Amino acid sequence: MFTIVEKRKLAAQIYLMDVKASRVAKAARPGQFVIVKMNDKGERIPLTICDYSTERETVTIVFQTLGHSTTEMANYNAGDSFSDFAGPLGKASEFVFDDIEALQKQRFVFVAGGVGAAPVYPQVKWLQQRGVQVDVILGARAKDFVILEAEMQALGATVYVTTDDGSHGRKGLVTDVLKELIDGGTRYDQVIAIGPMIMMKFVAKLTKIYNIKTTISLNPIMVDGTGMCGACRVTIGDETKFACVDGPEFDGHLVDFDEAIRRQAMYKTEEGRCLLAAEK
Ligand code: FES
Repeated sequence: MFTIVEKRKLAAQIYLMDVKASRVAKAARPGQFVIVKMNDKGERIPLTICDYSTERETVTIVFQTLGHSTTEMANYNAGDSFSDFAGPLGKASEFVFDDIEALQKQRFVFVAGGVGAAPVYPQVKWLQQRGVQVDVILGARAKDFVILEAEMQALGATVYVTTDDGSHGRKGLVTDVLKELIDGGTRYDQVIAIGPMIMMKFVAKLTKIYNIKTTISLNPIMVDGTGMCGACRVTIGDETKFACVDGPEFDGHLVDFDEAIRRQAMYKTEEGRCLLAAEK
């Protein structure tokens, strides 16, 4: 069993949990995910790793209550346990394997939409700890949905915030800020965008114009996370890939976002039905 050591509500419908899982914590790298099962009969829920500590032997997960299982998971508290906590799964972020000295000559900008800030956090942390210059653009619907802003600043990253309604940071889209920074002369070597599919699509569209290497994460379309269900099948360039085993991170300029968005919508409907059934 995997015990929840700490639980915090980060925003409406968004929760953070530190879970005791020493083997996962030891092996985890930025970009990877875990599969959580609440009990023997529970659904397999793929969740990105937000942080990990080998000293505390914990892995931090952040999730949004979207379907029946995540809603049930939100009722768990410190002291409760999950029956399964498998991982780390998926490939680590590509830069983890790069030469550190070469990375230190680069400047990264992360674009995080909503709960996408969670998988961005360990990447920013990993790079900041190695002296790589990192900027972060956090986007959310409104002030109450901005998460991990203070935590990113505490890492030493420069953080820009945008909200749809202007209740925090500037009003507008993350792409507005990114465009302004680039047009203003900031030279980025890599852009990493994680968040809603539509946001990643438009970030990739923008950075293609400027020819900046762009990585996106397709974890939002994963269902079972094992390579078995086929739900995360995507077209990357002229190849078919599975987000859970070949990713979740891919070259943003090669992803067929329209196909991925259609696929995600298909499962959202199913998820919605499941939630309704559970509420009856
Ligand atoms: Fe099922 Fe990838 S999530 S195959």
